[in-house]
Amino acid sequence: MLHRSVIMLGIESSCDETAAAIVTDDKTILANEIASQIGIHAKHGGVVPEVAARAHLEVIDQVISDALAKAKLKMSDIDGVAATAGPGLIGGVAIGTVIAKAIAAARHIPYYAVNHLEGHALSPRLADDVPFPYLLLLVSGGHTQLLAVVGPRRYHRYGTTMDDAAGEAFDKCAKAMGLGYPGGPAIEATALSGDSKAIALPRPLKGSPGCHFSFSGLKTALANKLHNLGGPNKAPLADLAASLQAAISDCLVDRTKQAMARFLSEFPPTANQRPVLVIAGGVAANKHIFSTFQQVTKDTNFRLSVPPAMLCTDNAAMIAWAALERLQEPDLLDFAPRPRWPLDPNASPPPGRGVRQ
Ligand code: KG4
Ligand code: ZN
Repeated sequence: MLHRSVIMLGIESSCDETAAAIVTDDKTILANEIASQIGIHAKHGGVVPEVAARAHLEVIDQVISDALAKAKLKMSDIDGVAATAGPGLIGGVAIGTVIAKAIAAARHIPYYAVNHLEGHALSPRLADDVPFPYLLLLVSGGHTQLLAVVGPRRYHRYGTTMDDAAGEAFDKCAKAMGLGYPGGPAIEATALSGDSKAIALPRPLKGSPGCHFSFSGLKTALANKLHNLGGPNKAPLADLAASLQAAISDCLVDRTKQAMARFLSEFPPTANQRPVLVIAGGVAANKHIFSTFQQVTKDTNFRLSVPPAMLCTDNAAMIAWAALERLQEPDLLDFAPRPRWPLDPNASPPPGRGVRQ
């Protein structure tokens, strides 16, 4: 009998990208369309939730049509539909999930309510043959977490941020430096001509036990240096950017080394399987951070897997793929969107004030 692959439509609208993708169960990405709102939010220096929701509504039909056209498919060819159901900005999440549910109901196909973080967490398996379990450093604009990925819907969270996410630190510092939004790529480009040792910045929590992160003190320290050096028009922005990038990278490395030790004790490597460290989320696109982790994994005998940039930043292919990973377990159409949705509901919160999921 001829095998026909399963075709999944994925929809992502939890932040500032409206995205639709079509992916098969044999890991072929037939379409991966993204309409970015970066231009809309740039003048505010960050995402404005109400503006984002309206912008999603305006383009989402077209983005889905574009994905079908790119894949040369009709809606009747789709076997299942998945949408990000949280965590994220609830207006955008509501729009994506309502459309996905309408398609599922009209076409009598299964609906999958996907956790956006699970999309990031499983994305390396779409790009690369990464077996479970693996250690994941998830670094995006909203999240900085270390997790053992045991299987779909099976996560052990080792650490999370007590305040800002790493991407948020890049974005807020870039805004203070007048470098625009999103901050990560702007800081990376500016840092190219700077000296990473020129400006002394702290490494919050470096050397402390556990795997939690903290970036707000670093952001404040950078703001103070910037002020003392005469503000964005006078300060050596390249040196500041390079020093900030190095500090964030150092913090990520220090916390990840702690997590590597814990991962090895919980999942001892076998003779034919080297432990794998995956870095996913928008910050994983940073070349300095990537090359630093290349060295760290070489020294610790981990294999490093970083999805290609288009799968690292927000996209809908990872949402379709997360549904394909649990094809036989669709969700009911009354699944309510969740603004907060931790991957590991049993994880204990970090000490300190914030509880970021
Ligand atoms: O995963 P993502 O696309 O969206 C979510 O937050 O879920 O990540 C966006 C974040 C932003 O904070 C952005 O500044 C950061 O990723 N980012 C980078 C780079 N590219 C994107 N940070 C550092 N270096 C980059 N090259
Ligand atoms: Zn994301």
